[in-house]
Amino acid sequence: MQVMAADGPEKTGEEGAGGAGGPGGGGVRFELEKETELRFEVEACERVQLELLSGLGEVFGSELNRNKKYTFGPGSKIAVFTWQGCSVSLTGKTEVAYISRDTPMLLYLNTHAALEQMRQQAERDNERGPRVMVVGPTDVGKSTVCRLLLSYAVRLGRRPTLVELDVGQSAVSVPGTVSALCIERPADVEEGFSVQAPLVYHFGSTTPGTNIKLYNKLTSCLAEVFSQRCEVNRRASVGGCIINTCGWVKGSGYQALVHCASAFEVDVVLVLDQERLYNELKRDLPHFVRVVLLPKSGGVVERSKACRRDTRDDKIRQYFYGFRGASLYPHAFDVRFADVRIYKIGAPSIPDSCLPLGMSQDDTQLKLVPVTPGRDLTHHVLSRHTAGTHLHFTTGAVKQVSGAITQLLEDRTPP
Ligand SMILES: Nc1ncnc2c1ncn2[C@@H]1O[C@H](COP(=O)(O)OP(=O)(O)OP(=O)(O)O)[C@@H](O)[C@H]1O
Ligand SMILES: [Mg+2]
Repeated sequence: MQVMAADGPEKTGEEGAGGAGGPGGGGVRFELEKETELRFEVEACERVQLELLSGLGEVFGSELNRNKKYTFGPGSKIAVFTWQGCSVSLTGKTEVAYISRDTPMLLYLNTHAALEQMRQQAERDNERGPRVMVVGPTDVGKSTVCRLLLSYAVRLGRRPTLVELDVGQSAVSVPGTVSALCIERPADVEEGFSVQAPLVYHFGSTTPGTNIKLYNKLTSCLAEVFSQRCEVNRRASVGGCIINTCGWVKGSGYQALVHCASAFEVDVVLVLDQERLYNELKRDLPHFVRVVLLPKSGGVVERSKACRRDTRDDKIRQYFYGFRGASLYPHAFDVRFADVRIYKIGAPSIPDSCLPLGMSQDDTQLKLVPVTPGRDLTHHVLSRHTAGTHLHFTTGAVKQVSGAITQLLEDRTPP
């Protein structure tokens, strides 16, 4: 079957991508004209193989290799974009597959070009490169835009840093963490960015609202470490950073964005798809911060709660077993409760009238609370804290003792 690019989105449709044979090794062939994209979603419990047959195409900023088969797991939502035109084939059951001409890729490319100019200027003037914060409500393509901008930057030889502040859907580590990752090569088409030596802080919940004070504190910690790195590493400094944020943009969520902008001293804020947020940030951020409103792609798919939960479960599995469960071999060993101390950050709030004189409610949010081991610890991820002579574990949050913070991934065993 041959499908040509349609006049608008969602016109050429899915006609059962598992169907007839063709040059793509039994798949369905799609011909993409220049500046169009093929969007497809993989059915639950299915896998779909994508192959570039001719021309040039990319998936969220990473170029496809010709005649290589890329496999996408159940529920994946993918777009193959082409600047010059290409033909691809899909094998397997897709929920939907269509070609769209209506994409904001040109605007995203312009944004990348503007950031690259800032990097060139930083290089010339011996200054630091752009620090960019990507914000917007849920399901507008924030993570995808971050991936795109990072992959484009690294393709030009830059070394930008991804700062992942989305504790619900982290691209770097297990859910419930915030992290920073130096990007050295474009994202793998199937796997995403290679996670080599990230800096990861354990927040311990999938919503910042659980302990907003701790969330802001961890943001500040990441910003401080990033700035220190920039001082000693010129390439990191020129590369700048792209900060991915949560989709919580109201109340304390909005305040957390303002806090992040100030902690990282961001120069550019990209607001996806929400004019209200754009105007609020323009009002509240210093005048030298460039706030830019960008449209969301029509291809971005809304994800249900169940879908988000599945993605989180996958991410945890991936942390322990590697991508598709094939590259890491974790082993279990017993630790006696007598040999460890377990703490949690954040005490339950107490009414103001019951607090000691001079202590405010906020102070309890960063308080260390000893945890008595029990049944309710099952199905929790604890992180190990390395400072001090005893083994300490924290549940649900980073523990700060002697000024150090747990790095969750430091003991990750190579395959
Ligand atoms: N152009 C596109 N075509 C098809 N699918 C897309 C496109 N852009 C993004 N997607 C898919 O849409 C989904 C949501 O995108 P993304 O994760 O970037 O949104 P988000 O704003 O970061 O969401 P969240 O609020 O959960 O962080 C992802 O599965 C992504 O692969
Ligand atoms: Mg996201």
